[in-house]
Amino acid sequence: MIHGLSAGASRARGQFIAVCFAGLALFLAGCGGSNTNSNTPQTPSPTTYPPNKPTAAPAAPANKGAMMGNTSGKAMTGEQIFAMDCGRCHKIGSVGTGRISLDHIGSKKDKAWLTVQIRTPAQHHSRMPPFPASRLSDKDLATLLTYLSSQK
Ligand code: HEC
Repeated sequence: MIHGLSAGASRARGQFIAVCFAGLALFLAGCGGSNTNSNTPQTPSPTTYPPNKPTAAPAAPANKGAMMGNTSGKAMTGEQIFAMDCGRCHKIGSVGTGRISLDHIGSKKDKAWLTVQIRTPAQHHSRMPPFPASRLSDKDLATLLTYLSSQK
């Protein structure tokens, strides 16, 4: 068959091969193009998510510390104590991951009421877990009360 090819048929075959190569080139370009296209939207996603994670990451240790009290013996700020002991259930501004907001708690309740709520919530018929001195020292409670009272 090949031996019987006329010059015209040979030219036609050459053109056919040229078209094949052109088609292959387009196909490869198309593949390359679609690869880049499918990769491009994926690339920003992994880089978009990590910046969010560091925001959530610091909340995790605070959650783990919740209910454990300040056992480090180190002086903590009221905000740190709140984040550690109360932030699991409560939130003041951006501090804490809980759903029950204590925003403006300082203009609603005084320190005496707050002390009862924290030490013996049952007295307020509250379902909140109590924070006895073994869990929250008097010193940390005082620091926490100052912080809560300042949330006007
Ligand atoms: C396990 C979840 C939980 C933790 C931890 C917790 N609370 Fe609560 N707290 C609640 C719930 C639930 C309520 C409201 C319903 C109720 O009183 O039964 C509440 C109510 C309160 C209120 C009354 C809010 C109002 O507007 O009347 C205050 C104040 C409060 N909590 C302070 C704290 C403080 C301070 C801490 C940390 C020392 C803390 N809570 C830890 C669950 C929690």
